[in-house]
Amino acid sequence: MTTAVQKETPASPVVAKGLKGVVAADSAICDVDGQLGRLIYRGYNIHDLAEHSTFEEVTYLLLKGELPSTFQLQEFSAELAECRRIPPAVVEFLKACPRDMLPMSALRSAVSVAGLYDPQAEESTPEAQSQTALRLIGMMSSLVAAIHRLRQGLEPLDPLLELSHAGNFMYLLNGRIPTADETRAMDLILILHAEHGFNASTFSARVISATLSDWYSVIAGAIGALKGPLHGGANTEVLKTLFEIGDVKKVAEYVETTRANKGKFMGFGHAVYQVEDPRARHLKELSRRLGLEQGQPQWYEISVELERVVREAIRKNCNVDFYSASLQHYMGIPGDLFTCIFAASRISGWCAHVLEQWADNKIIRPSSNYTGPAERSYLAIEQR
Ligand SMILES: CC(C)(COP(=O)(O)OP(=O)(O)OC[C@H]1O[C@@H](n2cnc3c(N)ncnc32)[C@H](O)[C@@H]1OP(=O)(O)O)[C@@H](O)C(=O)NCCC(=O)NCCS
Repeated sequence: MTTAVQKETPASPVVAKGLKGVVAADSAICDVDGQLGRLIYRGYNIHDLAEHSTFEEVTYLLLKGELPSTFQLQEFSAELAECRRIPPAVVEFLKACPRDMLPMSALRSAVSVAGLYDPQAEESTPEAQSQTALRLIGMMSSLVAAIHRLRQGLEPLDPLLELSHAGNFMYLLNGRIPTADETRAMDLILILHAEHGFNASTFSARVISATLSDWYSVIAGAIGALKGPLHGGANTEVLKTLFEIGDVKKVAEYVETTRANKGKFMGFGHAVYQVEDPRARHLKELSRRLGLEQGQPQWYEISVELERVVREAIRKNCNVDFYSASLQHYMGIPGDLFTCIFAASRISGWCAHVLEQWADNKIIRPSSNYTGPAERSYLAIEQR
């Protein structure tokens, strides 16, 4: 038996619960200004990118730091398109999964399995790191579409390399060549969700990569973090809320009941933004348009009323997940696939951050403020 050493009680350190407000590293990728409601990728405002850019261009910008020239974009887009194919063994793995698999769980597992078939998975040269990043970005939307089709009892489709990234994604999901409007809608979703600083999934990716683990472990971990309803999983919950309300006249009653039950309003509030989430306005406008075009404006209208009443009730603005729910519903995407679509976009941001982390690595290892018992003597089991 050892004798307990009396420990002096040090002054309690200041604990930043949830690391809120803690600056954990320098990063040149993204600036989220929560006071101004401003989002910048590598110096470019999200409003300009949403209006003028494509997912391929934004991915190039995030990975390489500059917008590409026409030639660079063509070359990069062709390289990315070549990465759309899924290893056949991963398709076989997905086929063996339960038909009612949760899409985000299936995606997390499929990424993990894909790592087993990538001969470069454990290579750490800068060339291998860049190539694997591209493979993951190219493959992610194909994995999401394969999961979507297999759940319906359909065979996954081969990618069409001549389509844009967004166009091919819509094709793989629906099995028909998308219209220009459908492609643009998907492109907008992919651009707006691609990057957002040290959010939970990106920070998870940086923590895992900082141990010098491999790409596939990093991305599987990031998908796990994104899946949670307080992060990327919120968009799925928003659609459930809209369906539960069902009628614009029932919004006030829903808000009252949720408040009385101390419930959360999914798609509202943000850890950084104190004002409008700048991404929400683009999704809102597109949701309005598609709702009208399809003669089903009710999901948009319920969303608008819910936004108004929640803001009045708890002074929280809606976030990126709020209007993405009605919008993706109008695009024919099932609610439980929304977070996978988010992952197929955020993969670009994750990869940019992991490359930045590896370029100047330091293991991420914060401390905790111990609140357990002071050191005490070990008691033999028969004396307890
Ligand atoms: C995003 C979120 C996790 C940020 O959490 P946070 O940084 O702790 O936010 P705040 O500091 O502003 O929250 C303080 C309090 O405001 C209230 N609040 C914040 N968001 C709320 C919401 N959507 N509904 C009801 N109350 C909310 C809560 O009382 C919260 O206290 P809690 O942490 O004990 O629940 C939080 O707003 C939330 O849970 N939103 C719903 C889920 C969602 O939409 N997530 C996607 C984010 S992009």
